[in-house]
Amino acid sequence: MATPYRTARLPNRGKADKARACFSGMSVNRIPSIPIGPLTLAMPVILAPMTGVTDRPFRTLVKRYGAGLTVTEMIASEAMIRDTRQSQQKAAWDPSEEPVSMQLAGCDPERMAEAAKLNEGLGAAIIDINMGCPVKKVVNGHAGSALMREPELARRIIEATVKAVKVPVTLKMRMGWDHASLNAPELARVAEDLGIQLITVHGRTRCQLYTGTADWGFVRTVKNAVKVPVIVNGDICSIADAEAALDQSGADGVMIGRGAYGKPWLIAQVMAALSGRAVPSDPSLAEQQALVREHYALMIDLYGPVIGVNLARKHLGWYTKGLHDSGVFRNAVNQIADPALALDMVDRFYEAQQAAAIAGTAIAA
Ligand SMILES: Cc1cc2nc3c(=O)[nH]c(=O)nc-3n(C[C@H](O)[C@H](O)[C@H](O)COP(=O)(O)O)c2cc1C
Repeated sequence: MATPYRTARLPNRGKADKARACFSGMSVNRIPSIPIGPLTLAMPVILAPMTGVTDRPFRTLVKRYGAGLTVTEMIASEAMIRDTRQSQQKAAWDPSEEPVSMQLAGCDPERMAEAAKLNEGLGAAIIDINMGCPVKKVVNGHAGSALMREPELARRIIEATVKAVKVPVTLKMRMGWDHASLNAPELARVAEDLGIQLITVHGRTRCQLYTGTADWGFVRTVKNAVKVPVIVNGDICSIADAEAALDQSGADGVMIGRGAYGKPWLIAQVMAALSGRAVPSDPSLAEQQALVREHYALMIDLYGPVIGVNLARKHLGWYTKGLHDSGVFRNAVNQIADPALALDMVDRFYEAQQAAAIAGTAIAA
């Protein structure tokens, strides 16, 4: 089945970011801490939940560089209750990630409440309800973004989930089902009245899937509708994007998804810039090589060699994108089923990049 998730076509704002990095010592803190119920989120720059991407290995690496908060991949409430192998993998986190937000999707208020309780029992600090997923399978089951056009069911799900747990419950949604029904502000107000403690808005409708560009300005209508913190999401892939999204939306923080593909350090850079600290530079090629190796090993550890090798391929593609001969490397490594051989190939690829970089510097000198 074709997935509606696409790699974003994103503006290249590298120069602006570099310039900003030079002056970052002079900038002000643009992201004061925010409350999520009884918790305080010191730096509201959040890694977006992305099924098949932001699993425990990736989140652990992102958190090590620095991230305000990480959220688990969406877990179907039914799978959580049935305690499937997949839900166990998705519900697992590394202690370094804590506090962790666990995301649930479902269409039955009682089952969502039950799944939320299970997550709370596992130690989740926050329960996030998914009302943004546009995938047909989810929407046809009246979950994810389908709930944006079923406000009464959405209300019952929120109410049941909030009542079921002591930890704060948050909500992630889109602008509406389509441009004729942009009901995010109304849903946000209802959610706030029912006890939702933070709302994230992806600035697209369900019908847009991942096409067009995210409408950060629209998020301001949600921000103006509620008192709880609002997070702006969609197409934020650089420091400049994060600043523009905050300016246009008036939101209290940002959530970054696809921009972090192959760059688990991006969130930390955005966090530093927004809080007026010096922006750490990208890791060196040698550091990236070590990082890729570690990410690969963590994935094999979690999923086993067969599924792990398969799932890791997309990350290898993202890490090496833009490096010399990365297409040749990707084609070759995608044929490899043995993790040790794939890691050898990773080593040879990065060593060649480093040798070329040294040779380039020597020629320039
Ligand atoms: C591969 C992929 C998987 C996703 N999985 C989830 C998910 O499990 N839960 C969720 O709330 N959103 C999910 N999303 C949506 C993202 O969290 C985010 O809202 C969206 O990608 C827009 O942000 P971005 O432009 O920064 O990526 C997913 C997006 C992608 C691309």
